[in-house]
Amino acid sequence: MPNPAPEIWTPASWRELEARQQPSYTSPEHVEQVRSELSGYPPLVFAQEARDLRRQLAQVAEGKAFLLQGGDCAESFSDFNANRIRDTFKVLLQMAVVLTFAGNMPVVKVARMAGQYAKPRSSDTEVVDGLELPSYRGDIINGIDFTEAARRPDPGRMLTAYNQSAATLNLLRAFAQGGLADLHQVHGWNLSYLENNPQREKYAQLAERLQEALEFMAVCGVNSENTPAIRETVLYTSHEALLLDYEQALTRTDSQTGKWYDCSAHMLWIGERTRQLDGAHVEFLSGVWNPIGVKVGPGMQPDELLRLIDRLNPANEAGRLTLITRMGAETLGDKLPALVQAVQREGRKVVWSADPMHGNTVKASSGYKTRDFDKILREIRDFFAVHRAEGSHPGGIHLEMTGQHVTECTGGAWKISEEDLATCYETQCDPRLNADQVLELAFQVSDWLRRGRAC
Ligand code: PEP
Ligand code: CO
Repeated sequence: MPNPAPEIWTPASWRELEARQQPSYTSPEHVEQVRSELSGYPPLVFAQEARDLRRQLAQVAEGKAFLLQGGDCAESFSDFNANRIRDTFKVLLQMAVVLTFAGNMPVVKVARMAGQYAKPRSSDTEVVDGLELPSYRGDIINGIDFTEAARRPDPGRMLTAYNQSAATLNLLRAFAQGGLADLHQVHGWNLSYLENNPQREKYAQLAERLQEALEFMAVCGVNSENTPAIRETVLYTSHEALLLDYEQALTRTDSQTGKWYDCSAHMLWIGERTRQLDGAHVEFLSGVWNPIGVKVGPGMQPDELLRLIDRLNPANEAGRLTLITRMGAETLGDKLPALVQAVQREGRKVVWSADPMHGNTVKASSGYKTRDFDKILREIRDFFAVHRAEGSHPGGIHLEMTGQHVTECTGGAWKISEEDLATCYETQCDPRLNADQVLELAFQVSDWLRRGRAC
């Protein structure tokens, strides 16, 4: 019999429930020491920022804005440098400008960055050539090398994750406010690599039109100096709230409202493998006031979804809860309508976002995990179609992507084949879209967005 949820929520009340996907640390004293050290560190985000994001997500829930959430599947300790952070930032900006300008919709930008270090795994151990070791669970927990030493969970890694998140966030804030995000830089955000990619020309034309609009506005007296919205942007951060010792240590009461916020990121989500109603992750996120998300896979039943919504958003406030569906292109058309109908019927206010990545992962014959670009697009297309048919809002997309020129997902303008995957396969975990694939996807989605608005 599972335990009922504790009567009173505290940042530690999750400990009374089953917590899946947690590492088996060998020294509880070491974990406690790290947790106590982290609890004294400054928060990474400020509660007011999380409230601002909640308000913007309420706009998304009402169909007045679009959510763009994306970044690495897993950030890494070793591949940590300014160029990577800058390139993912640029790709997000480029996508956002396409969706805003071509899709005619304000875009709320949320990065899977500055904290995306913990990974759920389908198996606790991995066997290679007869040797069985603990699975890699993300750099915040253990190392990716297949050695006993690397795979041993080390609580000290939580401190490194905190420090790297702080440095990443610092740079993201500098980019967002220090000139890189100025709309006059729109040409410079392009990282498309392929010379004859038709999307590049399309983007150059969009940038031209935007430049003309900015020149016109400048003549009217609206410019970067007097209008922060032209010169700056806001990029929020997010990650899966998987490692609960870490999340607990960064949970603080907000001095303005007296409410609890998980200050490790603006938005946190619960993964598909840890969303049990009576589980520790649901308990933990039910008590913080950040905007939160929950992944919804093909096994979710309408009743179960309604119970989960009520547990995570009992006041039914728009902007609090984002349902991130990850069904797979083959399955979404069958499974999503009943869930959307239940939510509509019961008047629950949620943001619906599409993760077209996690339901479409396959193993290529070469052994690489990959995802096909056409399937990714199809899942988003069907997501739009289902929501349009049910009279609800297709609110956003959630992507694993990078500004690097990787060959991890097949298809797209480079026509990446399974044989090409080895050329530049760098991900720590799941395959990501590269800059050219992201640009193509952005134009396609902006088309669906615009069409929806017209009808
Ligand atoms: C992820 O977003 O990286 C992830 C593991 O997703 P899911 O929980 O949907 O499998
Ligand atoms: Co992933």
